[in-house]
Amino acid sequence: MELPARPTLFDFHGVSMTKYFTDNWDNIQNFKARSDDILIATYPKAGNTWVSYILDLLYFSQMSPDRRDQIPLHQRVPFLEMHIPGFPLGKSSSVACCAQVGIIVVTCHSSLLGVDELNQLTTFPRIIKTHLPVHFLPKSFWEQNSKIIYVARNAKDTAVSYFHFDRMNRAQPEPGDWSSYLQRFMEGKMVFGSWYEHVTGWWEKKQTSSNILYLFYEDLIEDTDKELCRLYSFLGLSPTVELKKQVREKVLFDNMKKDKMANGSRDEAFDFKISPFMRKGKVGDWKNHFTAQQDEQFNEDYERKMKNTHLQFRTAL
Ligand code: A3P
Repeated sequence: MELPARPTLFDFHGVSMTKYFTDNWDNIQNFKARSDDILIATYPKAGNTWVSYILDLLYFSQMSPDRRDQIPLHQRVPFLEMHIPGFPLGKSSSVACCAQVGIIVVTCHSSLLGVDELNQLTTFPRIIKTHLPVHFLPKSFWEQNSKIIYVARNAKDTAVSYFHFDRMNRAQPEPGDWSSYLQRFMEGKMVFGSWYEHVTGWWEKKQTSSNILYLFYEDLIEDTDKELCRLYSFLGLSPTVELKKQVREKVLFDNMKKDKMANGSRDEAFDFKISPFMRKGKVGDWKNHFTAQQDEQFNEDYERKMKNTHLQFRTAL
C-alpha cells in the first residue's frame, strides 16, 4: 500500500505540531480520564516505550501472559493524541486481530486513533501514552487525579534520537540534514514543540502536583533497579520477587530490541533500513553527532533558555 506523504509542521496554539496529533483535538480535550488511569508523558524520544513496556509487564504479564506475544505495545498502551485514519499498521496488527477474534486476516489496514482505542479498552488500569506539553493535557486527568509518570531525557541525546527517528518515520516531517535539524530543535520547531518548554512545563507542574512522578532517562539507565523501586512505590505496587526479576530481564535494551511487539519492526511507517526504532539506548551518543562548534552554540543557547529553572540534566554518566 502506498504511504501518505510526510506531514508538515505548523503552529498550533504556539506549539509546532502535525495534523496527526491535532485533527481529533476536540475529542482529545474532552477525553474522560479515570482515577485509575496511568499516564506516561514524555517529550518524544525520552523513553516512553521503555516505561510503557515496564508498566504493561507489571500490571498484565501474570494475568495474561499471551498479551505480550500477541498484541503490539502501541495497542496495549494507546497514544492519546495520535489520530491517523487509514494509516497502514503492518503485519503486527494482523497478528493482533487474529489473536483477538480468531479469524484469518489477510491484510489489516487499520487506523491509529488514540482516543477511540482508549475508549474501547476493556482492561484496567488503562496505561496511556502522551507527548503533549503540560498545558495541552485534557483537564480530566487533573480532575481525576490520575497518576502521571513523566520521563525527561537530556536535550542533546533527545535531539540526536529524534533526528534518527524522523529520518526513519514517514509519519513525521522530513528532518533535513543534522545541522539544520539541530538548529530547529533549538528553535522548538519540532513535533510537540520546544523541548525546553516541555521539560520545564512538566517540572513546574510537578512542584504542586503529588500525582506526578518525574523520572530521568539517565537515572533509569544508570540504576534501573532503583528507579523501578521508585515506580513501584509511586504506583503502590508490591510485586513478587519473581515478577520483579521477570520485568528486570525483559526490559533490558537488548531484549526489548528483539521483541517484535515492542521494537516497531512491523510498523510500515518505519524504515529500518534507515535506522532502527530501538537504536542505541545510551547516554552520551550526542558526542558522536555534535561538532565542537555545534556544542558551543548549543550550550550558550541552553544556558539562556534554562536559566530560570532548577531542573538539571546529565549528558554523560
Ligand atoms: P535512542 O534513539 O537514543 O536509542 P521513545 O520510546 O520515547 O520514543 O524513546 C526512544 C528512545 O528510548 C530510543 O533512544 C530508544 O532506543 C530508547 N529505549 C527504548 N527502550 C529502551 C531500553 N529498554 N533501554 C534503554 N533505552 C531504551
